[in-house]
This record gives sequence, C-alpha cells and structure tokens, in this order.
Amino acid sequence: MDDEARRLIAAARDAAERAHAPYSRFAVGAAVLLTDGSVIVGANFENASYGLSLCAETVALATANAAGRLADAVAVGVIGGAMDATGVARGDDPVRPCGRCRQILNEAAQMGGRDLRVHCAGAEGDRVQSYLLSDLLPDAFGPADLGIGPRR
Ligand code: THU
Repeated sequence: MDDEARRLIAAARDAAERAHAPYSRFAVGAAVLLTDGSVIVGANFENASYGLSLCAETVALATANAAGRLADAVAVGVIGGAMDATGVARGDDPVRPCGRCRQILNEAAQMGGRDLRVHCAGAEGDRVQSYLLSDLLPDAFGPADLGIGPRR
C-alpha cells in the first residue's frame, strides 16, 4: 500500500466510525484528497425512508463542493464493512464505490480535468485495491457531454 492509500484509508476509517447506518448496519467512510494535500471526509448517512440514504463517497464529494473544491479532487479512499454486535465494522473485502458513486466521482474528475485514483479497503483496512476511476467507469457520461469543460 502506498503512502497516499494509507493516509486516505486511515482518514476514511475514522469517518466510517461516524456512519449513520442503523438500517443496513454497514459502515462506509470516504476520504477525498485535494490538490493542496488536504483531505475531506464523508460517511454514509442513511434515512428511515431507506431510499433517501446517501453513500459516504457522495457525502464527501458534496462536502468538497461546498468548500469550493470539487475540481481539486485527485484521489479517494473508501473503506467499509458490516458492523458487529458492538457497532464496530468488520471484514477484509474491499468496498468499491457503487455505480451511482462512480458517476458522482466522475463529476469531480471531469470538472478537474483529471482521472481519480480510487483506493478501496475492507473495514480492517489492511487489504487495499487501487483503481483509476476511468477503469471503474469507462466511457463515462459527464459534464463534457453537456459542453461543460474543466474548471481549474
Ligand atoms: N454505501 C456507501 O456508502 N458507499 C458505497 O459505495 C456502497 C454502499 C452505503 C450505502 C448504505 O448506507 C450501506 O452502504 C449499505 O448499502
């Protein structure tokens, strides 16, 4: 695991502890690395009306956008796992962004005019798989299709 993945997975794991996931009892954390080296995190945020639930990656990217930094994302760490009876997330299988989150990650990627590195881990955090967003979501539809160019 490289230093970037290690740092982002650690930040994502910390965020996952604040997941609001009483329905699925599956905690996910995400950490977005920005061009200046700062990191913005998110955790999944479920709702009693289940379909309204937000994924960790979406929360992190919306937070980056609210800070005016959507186009500055360069890499993302994602971690997750099912909670045990004490509420601690467990498991070794890497959690990869869901389809909707891949599309939302693509918004940041295209607005920044760069591909994103995506580091995925299971809750224990010791097994990490790293991808390029363009491999997770090839030939993506995005801002460019609507004539919106990178903003950086
Ligand atoms: N979840 C995420 O936060 N990110 C993903 O990429 C996959 C799924 C959340 C949504 C829901 O709160 C829980 O994990 C179980 O699906």
